[in-house]
Amino acid sequence: MLGNFSYCNPTKLHFGPEALDALAGELAHYGKRVQLIYGGGSIKKNGIYDQVVSILKAAGKEIFEDPGVMPNPTTEKLYEGCKIARENNVDLLLAVGGGSCCDYAKGVSVSAWCDEDPWEKYYVRMEEPANRLIPVGCVLTMVGTGSEMNGGSVITNHATKQKIGHVFGEEVFPKFSILNPKYTYTLPKYQMVAGIYDIMNHITEQYFSGEDDCTSDYLMEGLMRSLLHSSRIAVKDPENYEARSNLMWIATWALNTLVAQGKDTDWMVHMIGQSVGAYTDATHGMTLSAVSLPYYRYVMPYGLHQFKKFAVNVWGVRPEGKTDEAIAQEGLAAMEDWMKEMGLVLHLAELGVTEDMLDGIAKGSFIMEGGYKVLTHQEIVDILRQSL
Ligand code: NZQ
Ligand code: ZN
Repeated sequence: MLGNFSYCNPTKLHFGPEALDALAGELAHYGKRVQLIYGGGSIKKNGIYDQVVSILKAAGKEIFEDPGVMPNPTTEKLYEGCKIARENNVDLLLAVGGGSCCDYAKGVSVSAWCDEDPWEKYYVRMEEPANRLIPVGCVLTMVGTGSEMNGGSVITNHATKQKIGHVFGEEVFPKFSILNPKYTYTLPKYQMVAGIYDIMNHITEQYFSGEDDCTSDYLMEGLMRSLLHSSRIAVKDPENYEARSNLMWIATWALNTLVAQGKDTDWMVHMIGQSVGAYTDATHGMTLSAVSLPYYRYVMPYGLHQFKKFAVNVWGVRPEGKTDEAIAQEGLAAMEDWMKEMGLVLHLAELGVTEDMLDGIAKGSFIMEGGYKVLTHQEIVDILRQSL
């Protein structure tokens, strides 16, 4: 229900093949000292690193390198990044990479000047930042998380087997993000399709909640139809600019707070997927695809009206002469066919999950209350077992 809300998204986006041209103008708003955050080296191979560094140098910036942000960034890496930021008193954190780099940059932003253990304060206790923050900018190279225009920051603690996301407020959103769809051409297919499923699941996590007629549902149905169309083109033709640019734009709008307005939102697939990630370090989107179908089939009877709408409005299921349940089942079957067509992981065993981990993964899954069924621990174990 669209009750009272305030809406503001403070991230400025620069989109398109020439989007990097806007970087110099953005840099002018910040001091000289820039912490350049990137991952395991893809940006050095595809030339994005050289382009960014030459713009930083031309703008007279002093660069403090912070490479090696791993997929699913860890607490150890977070502490390392904080040290670089603090010792060099940096003015801007510039993340060049995917969701991991961008999430990590937000983590460093809130943590560098925090006097307590940031893992405990911001991720375990989920407190809001009161200390000095360092502004974040992003040059996006991987599509899926929406981190380029939201306050999410997900950090993994391998010692405690926890992967926790804090959704920070507007002050932690990137100040600007540069979105050039061509940068995503070099993504391996596995990452591309994992990102595509991440987008789909961000939308369904928000869509499968509520009983009312809400404009956000119509927006999401449109985003999902566009996602299906462009994903099918992009897997066959990865350098199709039209499809890749649509995917990039859908990903941003799927998780930048817009479509959540008026929705309770579920997020249970993400909670289970994150716990799977804490145990396996698997690719985020694949942890979601592996548990989604058993989860949605399980909760479908509790939100039948919405699953029926999903089947008809997103998957084009013809409703005539069928029961609501049959229509809803057909929608999920169509989603399964699309997931197979994409080459997504549909079984947790492929991600290294074994039977003996299920209880621990279920314990590590935060139980959310906004969806159609509040799960018990045993129900999560059952869903995980069906996902094996
Ligand atoms: O590290 P490099 O060498 O750059 O390689 C990366 C990495 O191995 C590679 N890659 C990225 N861009 C590339 C490229 N390879 C070739 N060409 C390019 N253009 O792709 C791999 C995955 O990158 P990563 O950043 O880890 O992927 P993603 O964007 O999916 O981010 C995943 C992280 O985001 C969190 C996830 O939990 C996970 O930790 N999430 C963040 C959210 C948010 N901020 O709101 C929400 C999401 O639900 C998600 O939880
Ligand atoms: Zn996600």
